[in-house]
Amino acid sequence: MTEGTITVAYIAASILFILALGGLSNQETARKGNVYGMVGMLIAVLATVLGARVTGYGTIIVCMAIGGSIGFYVAKKVEMTQMPELVAILHSFVGLAAVLVGFANYMDETVHFEGVEATIHDIEIYLGVLIGAVTFTGSVIAFGKLKGIVTSKPVLLKGRNALNLSILLLCIWLGASFVGADSPSGGMLPLIFMTIIAFAFGVHMVMAIGGADMPVVISMLNSYSGWAAAATGFMLSNDLLIVTGALVGSSGAILSYIMCRAMNRKFLAVIAGGFGTSEGSVASSDAGEEQGEVVPISAEETGELLKNAREVVIVPGYGMAVAQAQHAVSEITRKLREQGVNVRFAIHPVAGRMPGHMNVLLAEAKVPYDIVLEMDELNDEFPEVDVVLVIGANDIVNPDAQDNPGSPIAGMPVLEVWKAETAIVMKRSMATGYAGVQNPLFFKENTRMLFGDAKASVEAILGSI
Ligand code: TAP
Repeated sequence: MTEGTITVAYIAASILFILALGGLSNQETARKGNVYGMVGMLIAVLATVLGARVTGYGTIIVCMAIGGSIGFYVAKKVEMTQMPELVAILHSFVGLAAVLVGFANYMDETVHFEGVEATIHDIEIYLGVLIGAVTFTGSVIAFGKLKGIVTSKPVLLKGRNALNLSILLLCIWLGASFVGADSPSGGMLPLIFMTIIAFAFGVHMVMAIGGADMPVVISMLNSYSGWAAAATGFMLSNDLLIVTGALVGSSGAILSYIMCRAMNRKFLAVIAGGFGTSEGSVASSDAGEEQGEVVPISAEETGELLKNAREVVIVPGYGMAVAQAQHAVSEITRKLREQGVNVRFAIHPVAGRMPGHMNVLLAEAKVPYDIVLEMDELNDEFPEVDVVLVIGANDIVNPDAQDNPGSPIAGMPVLEVWKAETAIVMKRSMATGYAGVQNPLFFKENTRMLFGDAKASVEAILGSI
């Protein structure tokens, strides 16, 4: 393939990636957006592999076959609820790739620059390895936190802010000695040192971030992986990688900002870590504390309440995804609407385990888009609602976020379901949600608990209406 053809292919791929992002911004066009992205990626891979720089086809074909098969197998096998973990681990690969490409590029004797160009190239390598290393270990820890093998509570080292500042200064100093080194062997030591520090920093940064703030971390690491890819693009003088990396980096940054706003958090404070904590120690999560009596309700009684209601709001959460209850929920919605009940859905921005998690499930179950509303659109209307069905949600309906400044989720906006006439909470036990905090909603006078697997409960309600 000639250079000209490759450039045209790269421009086409870039346009397709932009169209993909545009498509993903709306539920109705999301499928098309995915197709654009896939075609763009196919063009990008083909143009790169068929370019003049690639010679060893044997190795590339074997690697692509192995990588492609693993990817295919994992994507087929992964449950919807495990998607965030998969995304986190994929971000770690981008980070590791940036580190490896950085080292390979630095050691490659055929890559040679003089004067200012050499300095710029060194800076590209240094930044690429730095961002890549932080992204790698940070994403591995995020994966562990989402999978539940690493504690979801913030783990804080004493004097962490001073530590972060010292790491930053050390990295700048090492960077100066790396760029200033006369020979590749002289620069190797600072590069290796910085990589080790950046690996440790990635662990420290994500360990310090608490349960309910994980959505921000994931989108932040998404953004980092984009910048790591863009830095790799600069190292390799690959325009497409620069454009794609910048697209991922900036869209991830915008998503992080949106997430922060949704959680009422300051972006820089989340990065510095330790949210949900008071001055160095983890705030008590009172997870085991009983706060009174709960009043149970049966599926039949719930069915009666729903049939006699005028205004019903359904609040889905992670438990609906686990139970795969969305189809039964959609069926209940259809039946109640046929009987003249006004049913709407209230979606919290961080419900579930990934952005848009609930929207995807409800769209899959063919719930009409126009009755699926965002938190801000419905939150003021709860006092006029007769029955709220909270299906497998917990943290996003926790009044402590407003009432208890010591709570790890204090300040996070929540759906004010307790203001409705009756709130029915469907879950299996009194267990806590992702943030690991007890929920006073369960003990309120107008709350009823419908214990059991969400799918079984929703089907039982369906039977009774
Ligand atoms: P959670 O607070 O995690 O609560 C989910 C509840 O569902 C649990 O209390 C659980 O109680 C119940 N549940 C689990 N399986 C169930 C089943 N089969 N049937 C019925 N109930 C079941 O979920 P949420 O309210 O959606 O809040 C999301 C949380 O995850 C937030 O803290 C958020 O910060 C965090 N998070 C979100 C994201 C994104 S981007 N959305 C990413 C990472 C973390 P039982 O065990 O008693 O059934």
